[in-house]
Amino acid sequence: MAIQIKTLEQLKKMRVAGLVVAEALRLMREAIEPGVTTLDLDAIAVKVLKEHNATPSFLNYHGYPNVICASVNHEVVHGIPNERKFVEGDIISIDFGAIVDGWHGDSAFSVGVGNIDPEDQKLMDVCDESMWRGIAQAKVGGHLTDISSAIEEYINSQGKYGILREYGGHGIGTEMHQEPHVLNYGKAGLGPELKVGLALAIEPMITRGSARTQVLSDDWTVISADKSNGSHFEHSFALCPDGKPFVLTAHDGGAERLGRLGVEISADLS
Ligand code: MF3
Ligand code: CO
Repeated sequence: MAIQIKTLEQLKKMRVAGLVVAEALRLMREAIEPGVTTLDLDAIAVKVLKEHNATPSFLNYHGYPNVICASVNHEVVHGIPNERKFVEGDIISIDFGAIVDGWHGDSAFSVGVGNIDPEDQKLMDVCDESMWRGIAQAKVGGHLTDISSAIEEYINSQGKYGILREYGGHGIGTEMHQEPHVLNYGKAGLGPELKVGLALAIEPMITRGSARTQVLSDDWTVISADKSNGSHFEHSFALCPDGKPFVLTAHDGGAERLGRLGVEISADLS
C-alpha cells in the first residue's frame, strides 16, 4: 500500500482521535501507584473511549484482547493487562490507540512507580527525548531515515542501550499501521521523501541491555532477552500544510518539547 497523504480536514479528524488518546494516557499516568494493576488502567481507557464515542485501535487487532498494552520492567512492549499490583520501583510502559470517525491516534509513555532506580529513570528519559529528537528532524523535503538516524544517534550518545530492531514506528491514518515502517536506527537521507500530509507514529523502544527480544507464550508480550528493563515512548505527528509538524497525540501539539529543540509547531491545527 502506498503512503496515505492527509488533507487538512483529515488531519483535523486525526487531532480529535489524538486528543482522546492524550486524555486517556494522562488519566492512566495519574492513576499509577503501588497497588494499582494494569487491568485498572485498561478500565480507565475503556471509560475515556465511551465518554468520547471512540473505538479502541488495539482490541481484536490480530486477536489482541485489551484496549491498552501495558509492559512492566523487562517487558518492553505489547504486554497484556493483568491483575498483578504495581510495587514501588516498577517501571511501566502504557500504549494506547483510539479511532474517532475512522481516524486513528496512537501514543505511549513509560513512568516509574514511586522511588525507582536512577538508571531506570535515565533509560526512560533517554527514550522519551530520542522520540522528540526524531520528530524534530521531520522536515518537508527531507527523508524518512532522517528521523531514524536522529533517534539512534541521541540514544547512543547517552550510554549503552539496546535499540529494538524487530519493531518500529509506522504511518498512521485510516489504519493504525500504515506504510512506511519507521526504523529507530540507521543512516540519514534514505527512504521516502517527507511531504505535507504525512502522518507518522514515532516509537523508540530501548533496554538497559540487549536489543534482542523474546515473545512470551501469550503470543504478545515482548521482553528483553537478557531481562534488562525496557522503555517505550510514542507519539503520532503530522506534517501540516504550513510545512510544520504538529504532534497529534500531545495536548500542546508538541509546542514545548519541539520548541526546546528549536522547532516551531504548525498553526494549522490550533
Ligand atoms: N501501538 C502499538 C504499535 O504501534 C500497537 C500495539 S499492538 C496491538 O505497534 F495489538 F495491541 F494493537
Ligand atoms: Co504505534
